[in-house]
Amino acid sequence: MASIGIFFASETGNTAEIARLIQQQYLPAGAADLYDLEIADAADVDAYDSLIFGTSTMGCGDYPTSLEAFLPEFDEIDLSGKTVALFGLGDQYGYPGELADALGMLYEELRARGAELVGFWPTVGYDFEASRADLGDGYFCGLVLDQDNQPQLTPHRLSAWVEAIRGDLQADRAPIEPLAQPLVEPLRPAPSRSVAAASSRRAA
Ligand SMILES: Cc1cc2nc3c(=O)[nH]c(=O)nc-3n(C[C@H](O)[C@H](O)[C@H](O)COP(=O)(O)O)c2cc1C
Repeated sequence: MASIGIFFASETGNTAEIARLIQQQYLPAGAADLYDLEIADAADVDAYDSLIFGTSTMGCGDYPTSLEAFLPEFDEIDLSGKTVALFGLGDQYGYPGELADALGMLYEELRARGAELVGFWPTVGYDFEASRADLGDGYFCGLVLDQDNQPQLTPHRLSAWVEAIRGDLQADRAPIEPLAQPLVEPLRPAPSRSVAAASSRRAA
């Protein structure tokens, strides 16, 4: 199992493609496993302490169907102690008043459940009127990508964002390999120095 779980919700394949790129081209080999929220469940998410969630926005500022359906699963997951980075796809010219709203709604959902959110992204370079992903301090709550209007900016945005979150997500940690042979005896911790020093003082 890798140390990072990437989960995505996608209607027409754009978010799925970006999630695959993050896993295969931007993170070290073996660092992340990839899941479609359409078929993932709470146990899949709970298995990781470092998570990336990606979602598009559909309807008029709505979640995509698979993420909407997944929301009750969060009741089964203890998100406190988990570090989560978010990315969201939207269309700033088609939906200037609801840019990447689903990203903002997901952020609120996970924050309220105790997750530590990382990977905020500057709002400069986007042309929009309102967005629930806009934190109001010059940052979105995650990386916003616009494959409809700015696909040429995506590679640079992705590499800068992944570089920024690598440390938070411990992306350089080696994948967790199962033990070749199970330990037959539990290891005993060595006595601490202070205990040893105290007993030698008592003996003197
Ligand atoms: C029916 C429909 C509704 C959309 N609604 C929004 C919206 O409210 N806000 C937004 O930023 N983008 C909206 N978009 C744009 C998509 O989020 C964008 O095209 C995205 O890349 C789709 O990603 P996906 O293929 O992973 O679903 C909408 C697109 C469609 C087709």
